[in-house]
Amino acid sequence: MKTLSIHSAIGNSEILVGETLVNVGTYLPKNRKIAIITDKNIRSLYGSQFPQADVIIEIPEGENNKVLHTLENIFEQLVAAEFDRTSFILAIGGGIVCDVSGFAAATFMRGIDFGFVSTTLLSQVDASVGGKNGVNFKGFKNMIGTFCLPRFVICELNMLTSLPTSELLSGMAEVVKHGAIADPDLFEYIEQNPDKVLAYDAEALERFVYDSVVIKSTIVNKDAKEGGARRFFNFGHTFGHAIEKNTKMPHGYAVSIGMVIASKMSAARGLLSQHDVDRIIAVLQALGLPTECEIEPIALFEALKRDKKRDGDGIHFVLLDKIGNAVVEKLSLNELEQIIHDLR
Ligand code: GLY
Repeated sequence: MKTLSIHSAIGNSEILVGETLVNVGTYLPKNRKIAIITDKNIRSLYGSQFPQADVIIEIPEGENNKVLHTLENIFEQLVAAEFDRTSFILAIGGGIVCDVSGFAAATFMRGIDFGFVSTTLLSQVDASVGGKNGVNFKGFKNMIGTFCLPRFVICELNMLTSLPTSELLSGMAEVVKHGAIADPDLFEYIEQNPDKVLAYDAEALERFVYDSVVIKSTIVNKDAKEGGARRFFNFGHTFGHAIEKNTKMPHGYAVSIGMVIASKMSAARGLLSQHDVDRIIAVLQALGLPTECEIEPIALFEALKRDKKRDGDGIHFVLLDKIGNAVVEKLSLNELEQIIHDLR
């Protein structure tokens, strides 16, 4: 097991890469009420390894259930089980379970302690690390939420081998993102080993999780609330979220296309070489991720206008000046409208 720490403006968190669900009891507070929040699939696969809890709350699966109504159900069950401010929430699941549970814990009675057992590649390399939580609202991603760190995050590597390929690839899009914005060696390793990804090679998966957590914890330690470097993690996500909203494709797939658009924009602005754009497209294609899609420009622009990263009449847009180095430029909505037009 490898341990990394976040000590940031929004609190502290221990990330335990390679720790297992059966050991989670060691990290839970004693003599306090415990609620486990999970989903049906995870409970059916791993319920026999769950620790003792006062209540187990199952939330429905799927991005369309990452909504306020799901939180209401959680709060109802916590109240019914007489939870108080000393109680603890343990989320066991992927990105949706962790995002919703983190938000529930951050807001129930103005905030109670919580921890995660993160079960998917996407949540281990991104969603469960760094304290962002929340739900979608009116179809817009993560519109309502808080920054609040779990006490611990267990990245259960054993569970990755049973992920469906689409889940694995969705997580890999975020790993490619981390290479592209901050780690050229990681990027090169993925370029050289797409076969290991598709074979669920244990050593490769451990590297993807560990390297990603190193990048996330280093940046979150400096900029927890996304005023500066944390914005880099939004590479591919401005168009990605707009594509996800309009096509309902998995998050990582939409981010993959978003990264291609952002890379082409970086080249068009004279920042990134065409060679690096081609490398980014090639690595995504080698993994089997999509690099383009058909979408109405008007719908894309409408979704962009409501992006969380909007600031007045512009959006802080993440570009690359080489593989391994991100830069942020504020682009006006007019410029983005023109870019969408030119993409056609
Ligand atoms: N998922 C992007 C971030 O944690 O900042």
